[in-house]
Amino acid sequence: MQQLLAWQEAAPPLPLDVDVETDVETLYRRILAREAKIGVVGLGYVGLPLAMAAVANGFTAIGLDIDPEKIEWLNEGRSYIHHIPGDRIAAMVATGRFRAHMHVALVNDGPVTLVLDA
Ligand SMILES: NC(=O)c1ccc[n+]([C@@H]2O[C@H](COP(=O)([O-])OP(=O)(O)OC[C@H]3O[C@@H](n4cnc5c(N)ncnc54)[C@H](O)[C@@H]3O)[C@@H](O)[C@H]2O)c1
Repeated sequence: MQQLLAWQEAAPPLPLDVDVETDVETLYRRILAREAKIGVVGLGYVGLPLAMAAVANGFTAIGLDIDPEKIEWLNEGRSYIHHIPGDRIAAMVATGRFRAHMHVALVNDGPVTLVLDA
């Protein structure tokens, strides 16, 4: 936590006029409470397991991908990667804490706190 606070003090102000969470203590608390929503960009060999790990650890994950077929399969609880069994995708979707979208503008269930670019 001390390291995070030191980082916050050293970091230059974000040049963005958007609602970005810059308060490290708030972010830390939201991560511990699993209130932080994780956005994963790209649901391939890296991004899909990353989203699965987030959901398995109690987070809500929003997956973004440009491939409409992958979005459809994943939201239907099916896998398109042969070594990831479909039942694991189905279980992730069944938690209600994962949804795949084609564009961030389609995400209408509140702000995403962390964005992981796969
Ligand atoms: N797979 C590995 O072992 C590995 C190892 C080291 C680094 N990487 C790097 O990680 C990244 C992802 O690798 P991967 O193996 O998961 O690739 P992948 O091809 O399996 O997945 C990439 C996904 O991103 C999607 N995508 C492409 N452009 C997009 C965009 N603009 N917005 C949203 N989604 C988009 C694709 O449709 C695809 O589903 C790559 O940069 C790769 O070089 C991968």
